[in-house]
Amino acid sequence: MSIQLAVRGMTKRYKTGEGVSGINLEVNKGELVTLLGPSGCGKTTVLRSIGGFLEPDSGDILIEGQSVIKLPPEKRPTSMVFQSYNLWPHMSVFDNLAFGLKIRRMPKADIKSAVADALRLVRLPGAEKKYPGQLSGGQQQRVALARSLLLKPAVLLLDEPFSALDAKLRHEMREELREIQTQTGLTMVFVTHDQEEALSLSDRIVVMNHGHIEQIAQPQHIYNEPETLYVAEFIGKMNFLEGVVDEERIRVGPLAWPNTKRLSGQVKVAVRPEDVSLGKEPFQGQGLTGTIKQIMILGHYAEVSVELDKHGVIRSFQSKEAVQLLKAGQKVHVGFAAMIAYPNKR
Ligand SMILES: Nc1ncnc2c1ncn2[C@@H]1O[C@H](COP(=O)(O)OP(=O)(O)OP(=O)(O)O)[C@@H](O)[C@H]1O
Ligand SMILES: [Mg+2]
Repeated sequence: MSIQLAVRGMTKRYKTGEGVSGINLEVNKGELVTLLGPSGCGKTTVLRSIGGFLEPDSGDILIEGQSVIKLPPEKRPTSMVFQSYNLWPHMSVFDNLAFGLKIRRMPKADIKSAVADALRLVRLPGAEKKYPGQLSGGQQQRVALARSLLLKPAVLLLDEPFSALDAKLRHEMREELREIQTQTGLTMVFVTHDQEEALSLSDRIVVMNHGHIEQIAQPQHIYNEPETLYVAEFIGKMNFLEGVVDEERIRVGPLAWPNTKRLSGQVKVAVRPEDVSLGKEPFQGQGLTGTIKQIMILGHYAEVSVELDKHGVIRSFQSKEAVQLLKAGQKVHVGFAAMIAYPNKR
């Protein structure tokens, strides 16, 4: 697999001192990588630096092995799709799409067929004569996407392109983008603060926190093995319990696990709600005990919160069948199918 984009030791600090530092990232050809993190963590700063709209203080950016750090945006083999569609309202869809190709002096007949192909790809065949004002938000974003695709960039950059759309449309657009990626083999860097979007869309996710990268991995890996306490807190639902290292084991009350990370002192033990089992009997003869506080039915599953006798409240996901045997106020035994331990600090 060849590396299409490499960001090497990049730092960009604004006058305020905010920004990003030590950004190292490699994206393979044909890969869709997502920058994920809360507002202000530096996602747009990284993306705009790749696109050439921002000048980093240090580090390098290579596309297909060539440094592009000195090139202005229009000379870079990148194209950017923004949250706001940035279409020209007084120009037809055809003219909006043809503009970049005319500048590149593509012959007229070729432009016509390229535009028709691009519109077909974004599921708007025949929309050439329409004006942006006659299109819905989702359709306008499809046109903006088509415009970027027509430029055949080596790397397509997308900055929260679907965040202005309603939930259903956002879902559809995700699926379409995935399909377009499969069809075109384009390399994409996608920015979002929506973890569900990142988990469903990405080949790999870059989790960012306060101007630096916390973890880069495949979605399943990020979910199953969050590398840091920050990622464990940020991705998905998670329970946290206070644990302690004692004689090379991590203990939470009567429960104990091997101390594989060689932690010491007080630790945080993270457990996914789907890994919390509830029962009338103790699990393997040991476990925690508690009282069911609340049962919330969430469609095909239920979230059960249990006040543990010592270790605070814990949430458990139960199937809709299993939850019929449970009721608020009931005493239960609590077991964990899996856990991850972290040092008790950020
Ligand atoms: N032009 C600027 N001048 C000064 N500070 C800036 C500038 N642009 C961004 N920042 C700051 O740099 C940090 C990173 O901003 P950035 O826009 O990259 O975040 P983001 O992750 O894209 O956030 P969001 O999800 O809100 O779009 C923020 O603290 C922001 O306030
Ligand atoms: Mg941003």
